[in-house]
Amino acid sequence: MQQATARAHPNIAFIKYWGNRNAALRLPANSSLSMNLDGLFAETTVNWNDRQPADTFVLNGSEQSGASLTRVSTHLDHLRKRLRLSARAHVESANNFPTGAGVASSAAAFAALTVAAVAAAGSQLDERELTTLARLGSGSAARSVPAGYVEWHAADTHEGSYAESIFPPSHWNLVDVIAVVSSAHKARGSTEGHGAADTSDLQAARVAGVAGRLEACKNAIRDRDFEAFAQVVEHDSNLMHAVMMTSQPPLFYWKPASLALMERIRDLRADGVRVCYTLDAGPNVHCICVRDDASHVIGALADMSEVMETLTAPVGGGVQIIAGT
Ligand code: PMV
Repeated sequence: MQQATARAHPNIAFIKYWGNRNAALRLPANSSLSMNLDGLFAETTVNWNDRQPADTFVLNGSEQSGASLTRVSTHLDHLRKRLRLSARAHVESANNFPTGAGVASSAAAFAALTVAAVAAAGSQLDERELTTLARLGSGSAARSVPAGYVEWHAADTHEGSYAESIFPPSHWNLVDVIAVVSSAHKARGSTEGHGAADTSDLQAARVAGVAGRLEACKNAIRDRDFEAFAQVVEHDSNLMHAVMMTSQPPLFYWKPASLALMERIRDLRADGVRVCYTLDAGPNVHCICVRDDASHVIGALADMSEVMETLTAPVGGGVQIIAGT
């Protein structure tokens, strides 16, 4: 029937999303803040086809089945409902970054899938609604739809929990130097982790402090105040990992190499390099620095035996439709 292709960047959160107030709708426990990662992307083509008996999904060239296909098909069900469509879809998606590189591929994937599916249906929805639809596939996908620095609002309703750009990419030249310490696929995915967040005694305390940290982070970005930014970003990452480690069952994403890197990053900052760390649901360390200090950071990481490789990403734009019918 109709086909479109969209490209979306992954994002790295400075104020983390961890835990849901409503798991079915992926309504988050707290608001979060991130930047998109330029140069890394998922490219997804959706073809709505009346004659297809079931959805099909090809990821990085291989036909998917089982849980991977089910997750995409469930997301397409949400989109079919909103678009009043009954056709099944053929979906092809590819990432230009390695799976398991510590970059959550689901954010870019569900942002691109949502926008391609809507465009392929010939519908035009505003960005705000697109973020709420992307959220249904993977919470953090809401933040990959708008450009640059993005805030995703926590709310009790589907419509209320949307993401918006708070500063354009050009506002501040931050760079994410991703230090890959392990390429092993994560043992436990974030969907399961979100479900366990409330079993930690620390989750309520973490959530209670988010509004203040989010405000501090926003102000630090507004003022391009790296020291204030570093303090709140590292603190928020540590808090999320404290919740993860104290959940039932506990989730330990940090490896000894991750800790060695965190220490190195703090030492570099003490020496005047504008860099700080943040970690998602994996052991790899996102070293956030100002562009002028990126080559120094990359050089320091290259000297560490724990680091397998580094990927470098400046601030990225929003999702783009790159082909349509
Ligand atoms: O969107 P999900 O379900 O993959 O959750 C992402 C969770 C973290 O990456 C750990 C934090 C975040 O805010 O991106």
